[in-house]
Amino acid sequence: MKNIRGFSKLSKDKKINWICENFFKGNKEAEHVLKQYWNDNSKLQKLHDDFSENVVSNYYLPFSIAPNFLINNKIYAVPMAIEESSVVAAACNSAKFWKENGGFSAQIIKKEKNGQIHFFFKGKSIELEKYFSFVKPKLFQKTSPITKNMQKRGGGIKEIKLIDKTKDLKNYYQIFATFDTIDAMGANFINSCLEEFAKVFIESTSEFENINKNDIQIVMSILSNYVPDCIVRANATCSVEKLNSLHPETKNFTKKIVDAVAIANCDISRGVTHNKGVMNGIDAVAIATGNDFRAIEAGVHAYVSRSGKYQSLTKAKIIGNKFLYSIEIPLSIGTIGGVTDLHPLVKFALELLGNPNSDDLMMIMASVGLAQNFGALRSLVTSGIQKGHMKMHLINLLNKLNANENEKELAIEHFKNHKINNASVELFLKNIRK
Ligand code: MEV
Repeated sequence: MKNIRGFSKLSKDKKINWICENFFKGNKEAEHVLKQYWNDNSKLQKLHDDFSENVVSNYYLPFSIAPNFLINNKIYAVPMAIEESSVVAAACNSAKFWKENGGFSAQIIKKEKNGQIHFFFKGKSIELEKYFSFVKPKLFQKTSPITKNMQKRGGGIKEIKLIDKTKDLKNYYQIFATFDTIDAMGANFINSCLEEFAKVFIESTSEFENINKNDIQIVMSILSNYVPDCIVRANATCSVEKLNSLHPETKNFTKKIVDAVAIANCDISRGVTHNKGVMNGIDAVAIATGNDFRAIEAGVHAYVSRSGKYQSLTKAKIIGNKFLYSIEIPLSIGTIGGVTDLHPLVKFALELLGNPNSDDLMMIMASVGLAQNFGALRSLVTSGIQKGHMKMHLINLLNKLNANENEKELAIEHFKNHKINNASVELFLKNIRK
């Protein structure tokens, strides 16, 4: 019976029993897989159980540290939560190179979030505009209980506009609001404001002559993850000779990096993968610091497509004797709220970074993204990505093949000079096990 009513009401044990009975033929091994991740510390386990609905286990990700990030003259050891073997190693290598070459300099370009009430209006748009002017001060007033604390911290609602979208969709309008959420990502704050706006927007029609409440149909009120006005930039610069000296065996290494970025900027097939590499680093920091990486990803890829053509997040050029490297990226993140003061590892991660405010964390993340891109391009234009990647992945392959510690040591030594892939590792183990 794979259908169930009231699954969420079952205890954790009963949920697991039901799953094992119905999907694993009562197999006890499946139960063991889930339960082996339970934490003995019942308080900590309860905290994680309460994060979500229908929790049956915990899902571990490696929590790594990338030290030596010099950003705006300050050294950071950056927490990264990611399972992909070579990402942290690449970030560390890049951080080390750039630390020896002045580090990253980063700045916030602008920092504004936004959200919309999407609605249909059947009447004349001129009347709607008049009504909007009438109701706008009320939108600010009636949300003051929600915005009071944010205002005390220097943030709040910045602007509320009416936008006519009827050219795109019949009778479609938006109330478009912008916000400063200071150190919070601000999703709850923005959504609460928007839902209150929607209520006031409808209710106040009774106080205005030429608008009929029934002509307005509110569809939804929600923040936008498209944040083109919440932008951070990070730069790194060194001399062309210095960069070339990193790979003397590769002719024109610096020029190759510049060419690789130019290719990503003009070709979507390469561009998406190039940006994915940037996001390897940014998502890992986002997860470690309790930020919503889905929101970041959605916003970033829309941002790089804003001209109608998908582009690279990073830029690289050579001017005279200088290699100039930069990233400009929308990052709507927070260092307070959400799970930031609940999840012990997230709290640890933020403390490790010196309890940054959201500006600082944006600058750290942008720098890590640039470093990550540098690491990927450096491999791609020299040895190729597989050498470093498979070196890091070797241990996973060995684990998959149940290699013991002695076999692992022998394999690591052997594969220093041999190509690593599934077949070669399997063959190596077969031979030494003979
Ligand atoms: C792999 O996770 C990321 C890369 O593909 C990025 C890139 O190609 O630039 C190596």
